[in-house]
Amino acid sequence: MTVVGPLKQAELRVDPQRIQDRLQKLAAIGALPGGGVCRLALSDADRQARGLVVDWMCELGLSVSIDAIGNITGLRPGRCSGPPVMTGSHIDSVRSGGIYDGTLGVVAGLEAVEVLNHGGLDTEHSLAVSVFTNEEGVRFTPDMMGSMVHQGHLELATALGARDNAGMTVGAELERIGYRGVADSAVVRPRAYVELHIEQGPVLEHDTIDIGVVEAVQGISWTKVIVDGVANHAGTTPMARRHDAGFAAGAITAFVRGLTKRIGNDQVGTVGMIDLSPNVINVIPERAELTVDLRNTDEERLLAAERELHGFLRRIAEKEGVRITHRQLARFKPVEFDPGMTALIEDHARSLGLSTKRMSSGAGHDAQAFAPNCPTAMIFVPSVGGVSHSVQERTRLEDIENGANVLLKTLRALAG
Ligand code: HGY
Ligand code: MN
Ligand code: MN
Repeated sequence: MTVVGPLKQAELRVDPQRIQDRLQKLAAIGALPGGGVCRLALSDADRQARGLVVDWMCELGLSVSIDAIGNITGLRPGRCSGPPVMTGSHIDSVRSGGIYDGTLGVVAGLEAVEVLNHGGLDTEHSLAVSVFTNEEGVRFTPDMMGSMVHQGHLELATALGARDNAGMTVGAELERIGYRGVADSAVVRPRAYVELHIEQGPVLEHDTIDIGVVEAVQGISWTKVIVDGVANHAGTTPMARRHDAGFAAGAITAFVRGLTKRIGNDQVGTVGMIDLSPNVINVIPERAELTVDLRNTDEERLLAAERELHGFLRRIAEKEGVRITHRQLARFKPVEFDPGMTALIEDHARSLGLSTKRMSSGAGHDAQAFAPNCPTAMIFVPSVGGVSHSVQERTRLEDIENGANVLLKTLRALAG
């Protein structure tokens, strides 16, 4: 980037190749053979990726702090003291994830710092770029764990005590990877929070829109269901005498699909995980462990969907003669973002000649933890084919550049 004469706001631009290079370096950590990544929270791959981001933060002259739940924050001081303008996202992934989910928000935040550094520009207010622990909630629940603790919605002790399927706790894993900080971040109330993220859905591409101005995040309900039936011989046991946990799990899966049609309002429902045991061809399953992910932008409908699910669990338990228990793994009400922030994002996107669309987010994000505490909003860029949480996840470099420029301008406007 060559600039002659005094820097004006209009001439500040990101370097898309620098962003792409950082994304590729992160993508190499936890890389899957056919593309994509597996970088579960607090795994060795997560530790390695954290180390790379901390190195970048130090190279950019940021003062780096790690809080008690492992959130990493790089701070660029402003002229005046007081709360920072914050941006960031996550670098943990789902088990077979894409290379842009979360990482784009972190790398674009670092790019904004680099552009300001190159321009020798300081800001009125401090600027902070954060990496939040365990946004995905795949290994430990709930999801958005680090940002929820950071913004005071989840007790630190509860988060540290969360266990994965192997019984490892978040606290012990943070110790093991060297990211159990001491800073108590639940008191950090930023001036504002803005996050750049891939849309992860089909809307922007379908409407050929450059920038999504995110006004809301839909409500999320995660439930773990355990079905205890009776193992028996697949050949000798008459159908009327079966207590088949596998059948119950299948019935629950089919019920969830029907539920989405009855509840309406774009209700979505997913049974993403079913573990049967003993999981062999000629034994009637004794146990089924499954998860139900229900989401709706309308809280009342989401509550109705949960009530219907619980009613069905009681009925199928009765009918199949199995015992069913369930527990909530995560629950987030729908979140509205700040109208002033969405207007700011919209204005900056348009000033760059970009088309915009106001929309709500189908996915959960760290930003929703900030919404009750400070002016918060998100910037979306298109996902190719609307695909995400898949190794096929892809976002074009020009869309990455557009989103990062909108983030840069928005951060600069907020930080003065
Ligand atoms: O599940 C979600 O929406 C987020 O990716 N954790
Ligand atoms: Mn994400
Ligand atoms: Mn995700």
